[in-house]
Amino acid sequence: MRAERILILTGAGISAESGVPTFRGPDGLWEGHRVEDVATPEAFARDPVLVQRFYDARRAHLGKVAPNPAHMALGRLDAAWPGDLLIVTQNVDDLHERGGARRLLHMHGELKSAWCTRCDRRHPWGGTLSDQPPCPGCGHRGALRPDIVWFGEMPYGMHHIYNALDRCDLFVAIGTSGHVYPAAGFVAEARAAGARCIEINLDPSMVSDQFHESRLGRAGDLVPKLVEELLQGC
Ligand code: APR
Repeated sequence: MRAERILILTGAGISAESGVPTFRGPDGLWEGHRVEDVATPEAFARDPVLVQRFYDARRAHLGKVAPNPAHMALGRLDAAWPGDLLIVTQNVDDLHERGGARRLLHMHGELKSAWCTRCDRRHPWGGTLSDQPPCPGCGHRGALRPDIVWFGEMPYGMHHIYNALDRCDLFVAIGTSGHVYPAAGFVAEARAAGARCIEINLDPSMVSDQFHESRLGRAGDLVPKLVEELLQGC
């Protein structure tokens, strides 16, 4: 397959085969919580301990999971691709990094980062936050929150992402249901800019009809195949 400038959007489906639960599973619950009860600034203001414990558990879980063949394939693509490439993930896990991806943007933040709302600095974080550790920057206790973009907050890197969307000639969405904007609108932006648009997902997403091609199946099977096609064409 021929392309020069690639933008790849990933969602929870790419980490499902690693054992990280997706958001909109069959019962609509996520580790026993509704997403809106733990992933909004209002939820954090109402019950900070619940929200911190929820994210502490997810951060700790990262130590029990490993990148799968889809993450590894994108790492190979990143290392070998001579043209422009940007991997934009909605995921807050670190499986893309551990799969070798470097040209990576976490638009919804990262579990392994803590943000001090007092001094506004971000710090790499591997431990817990529910016990109110001091901020390594300003020393204040109780001001560190998960560096996660919650509903109602502005995703990271939007200017950079839209520039890349407007320039790319191949847009690929992997493992995302198309429920959450702005990410669900990326396909329309890329298509309007003239890019070929391919979706890889277990089921058709909410925005499937906007793609030129929908490849239905497991990311762990289909992403390595796509990467081979791309690397053979370059
Ligand atoms: N391979 C490919 N796709 C898969 C796999 C798999 N093994 N398993 C599940 N999927 C697909 C599902 O069919 C579904 O369409 O992945 C998609 C996951 O959708 P969601 O759970 O809605 O996750 P996502 O689209 O990433 O959610 C977007 O919502 O709550 C917010 O901020 C959160 O980043 C998240 C955003």
